[in-house]
Amino acid sequence: MTIGRGEELHEKLSAGVKRILVADRKMTIKKATILIVDDREAIRRVLYRKLSGEGYQCQEASSADQALDKLRSNLTELVLLDIKMPGKSGVELLLEIRASYPDTAVIMATALTDTSIAIQCMKHGAYDYLIKPFNLDEVILSVGRALEKRRLELENRDYQQHLEQRVETQARKIRASLISAITALAYALEAKDDYTSGHSQRVAETSVTIAKELGMPLSSIEKIRLAGLVHDIGKIGVRECVLNKLVGLTDEEFYHIQRHCEVGEHILNPIVDDEEILNMVRHHHERYDGTGYPDGLSGEQIPLGARILAVPDAYDAMTSERPYRGAMSVETAYAEIERGKGTQFDPEVADAFLRIENRQPQSPRVIASRTRAVRLAGS
Ligand SMILES: [Fe+2]
Repeated sequence: MTIGRGEELHEKLSAGVKRILVADRKMTIKKATILIVDDREAIRRVLYRKLSGEGYQCQEASSADQALDKLRSNLTELVLLDIKMPGKSGVELLLEIRASYPDTAVIMATALTDTSIAIQCMKHGAYDYLIKPFNLDEVILSVGRALEKRRLELENRDYQQHLEQRVETQARKIRASLISAITALAYALEAKDDYTSGHSQRVAETSVTIAKELGMPLSSIEKIRLAGLVHDIGKIGVRECVLNKLVGLTDEEFYHIQRHCEVGEHILNPIVDDEEILNMVRHHHERYDGTGYPDGLSGEQIPLGARILAVPDAYDAMTSERPYRGAMSVETAYAEIERGKGTQFDPEVADAFLRIENRQPQSPRVIASRTRAVRLAGS
């Protein structure tokens, strides 16, 4: 019983909503502005009264020139256009309207003897034609159909025009989600180790600064930032006892740690649909002279992004406190970077890094590094 009343109420509400929607749609269409173009005043009057009575905003013109004046000064959704007029004919005016006001629908009005011309007009873009003497109910139906067709055409065109923009917006949203997911992964990795806390963030930020210094395009810079955030994600797959071993790594253990580059690429592969980012992660421990890992690439064989990551990665490691050693001073670390030009590091990248550091001696990273060293010393 209760369910029956509920269904009844639901049906009543649905019907009410449908009535409102239909009424709203009719209102929208009926607010349209219609220009009635005919040299005979009596015909204009009849059409004006009927269409105004249906809620349309009507205007009149007795010639093609007067019609063009009205079109210039008013936004007109539909023109009801007589074919035979003194001076410029309705057919000529139709062509001008199609060329200058393509969003305006046109319905031709003609005598029974001129229907072939009316059909020609439809080939030139008229929506419909009406035969005189008018059946006013047919006029209303034809006007309603033409306005509805025009509305759908405009909506479709608007959809097509904005499709590209929508795709771009969607891509931006997906990229933003991706960045969030990647950042969360990087934080998860560093959360378990106080000594590497913030490492990925610092490598990402400094790599971006170097990429800008080298004049790289924005799209590449963004990829370098992402790669910086996740370059060590493969360490998730390194046994903790090996990761935290102070000294004396066996060959097997050393190889196991080195594997983090390939493991990182493997972990990210299903999430990151971008070969460049994956390559930066894989190759961030390659050395410029070809003695690095995992593939022993050298020089420009190493992706530029990976050559960039390598410099702040090494610098941050050198200036960070470790359980088995203190942090290197920034000055000594600079000297190490200088010394590694052409062997460990791409000379151009190392120079860019050193230039940036020289320009900002009190960089936030240096301060953070020193603060961290003080904090760890006091704990
Ligand atoms: Fe690494």
